[in-house]
Amino acid sequence: MRAEARPVFVDIDPGTLNINGACVRQLMEQQVDVHSAETWKPPRSPGWKESQDTRQNNAPRAILPVHLYGQCADMDELQEIADEHRLLIIEDAAQAIGASWRGRRAGSFGRAAAFSFYPTKNLGAYGDAGLATTHDPTLAGSMRRLRNHGSPERYLHTELGWNARMDAIQAAVLRVKLKYIEGWNEQRKKRAKTYDRLLAEAGLSALRGLQPLATAQAASPVFHQYVIRAQRRDELQKFLATRGIASEIYYPIPLHLQPAFSYLGYKEGDLPESERAAREVLALPMFPELTGDEQKLVVAGIAEFYS
Ligand SMILES: Cc1ncc(COP(=O)(O)O)c(C=O)c1O
Repeated sequence: MRAEARPVFVDIDPGTLNINGACVRQLMEQQVDVHSAETWKPPRSPGWKESQDTRQNNAPRAILPVHLYGQCADMDELQEIADEHRLLIIEDAAQAIGASWRGRRAGSFGRAAAFSFYPTKNLGAYGDAGLATTHDPTLAGSMRRLRNHGSPERYLHTELGWNARMDAIQAAVLRVKLKYIEGWNEQRKKRAKTYDRLLAEAGLSALRGLQPLATAQAASPVFHQYVIRAQRRDELQKFLATRGIASEIYYPIPLHLQPAFSYLGYKEGDLPESERAAREVLALPMFPELTGDEQKLVVAGIAEFYS
């Protein structure tokens, strides 16, 4: 939006909750003119430039997959669609540091990718911080300038940028924590397997109103969150709270229904799987230090609720 792009939302895969490639294909085949109905323009941001793209129509230019909860979106399918329709891929890898798809790491697929070091992330700073990646040296130079008031060298400003430098104190924290991230991610993967096993052993399946999210065969997720789908989700969450078990709903309002995007004209029912996920998802406690006994307590709490 800050680049004057207009987001076009597509529905998610109901298993992984990642962007659904079939929906992207459908959108591209409709050849929608995504800008034609546009009357609202976001404020022009620093660094904004007229597009060099000579395509006359207003067809989509980029796909922005979010590697949700630490699992890569289907990069095979998205790359195929991107190649076919000359689309850029820009990855939101905020939750997916260390995750991979066919052995290739999140953040290495697209023209550019963004990572978040918000304190709750797998690699969390002690305040706000983030990282952008790209294979393109020109783009890397541009990003380095933009984060520092558009300045390629001290007291020279070739364009308008932002103050988006990482604080030195956050960098110091992250430099230490970076050594541990692979191990922490491994711990998360083990905890996820334990949840899978405990939930299956407790007979908590779709028939009982509960289902862990799916992992795609080519994906190696880092379980930023361990998320289940649950019938009577809000009641379950309240019940778990009475047992001292915290859980979270990511995310109760899908993007297309957020007030900030009301100008796009989406309404309830437009993206049914996203809306269903918003009603059913529940993230269970997940962090590297979580113990097996704590996980048993969580699953026992869920089993008691559905018994
Ligand atoms: C998927 C996703 N995208 C983007 C962000 C934004 O990251 P930040 O808060 O570091 O700007 C977050 C987390 O806050 C996120 O989880």
